[in-house]
Amino acid sequence: MSDESTVVCPGSYDPVTNGHLDIIKRAANTFDRVVVGVANNPVRKSGTLFSGEERRGFIEEATADLPNVEVQVFAELLVEFARRNEATAVVKGLRAISDFEYEFEMAQLNRLLAPEIESIYIIASPNYSFLSSTGVKEMATFGGDVSELVPAAVAKALAERLGKG
Ligand code: PNS
Repeated sequence: MSDESTVVCPGSYDPVTNGHLDIIKRAANTFDRVVVGVANNPVRKSGTLFSGEERRGFIEEATADLPNVEVQVFAELLVEFARRNEATAVVKGLRAISDFEYEFEMAQLNRLLAPEIESIYIIASPNYSFLSSTGVKEMATFGGDVSELVPAAVAKALAERLGKG
């Protein structure tokens, strides 16, 4: 194993929000290399609004100023993705107690599959603790202003795909 600390930040990112980006930036400040993993077939979710490549593109553009961040689409077990990238940990954001139950289960399943890979949680900044991709999509569907919640390119893409013209 190299001396570099590599972690993966996995998610559906459909689409990426400023809350996700806050977690990715904070992970990039803490670890040598951050591989953002865009899940292309999350088991528990129905179809995504944006394709894997679109979701990857939004994150790549928004993290272009972070040299130790790279973005990959993955369609395999998260722990396999982490191993392939020689990551020692999975880093995710935790917004509220409501996230805990799901994340607890995921962390335990991942530990069972790969005990050598640690699960690390970064507590969301208070100004993003309410923010979710689902909420943003719902707002955009009804013409709400999401420009403070997502990168500009994402706001534009949401308006094009979900807006009423
Ligand atoms: O942003 P999300 O929707 O909370 O991300 C969920 C994600 C992508 C991290 C999770 O669905 C995942 O890890 N998918 C890959 C398949 C896997 O390894 N599942 C967990 C063990 S069964």
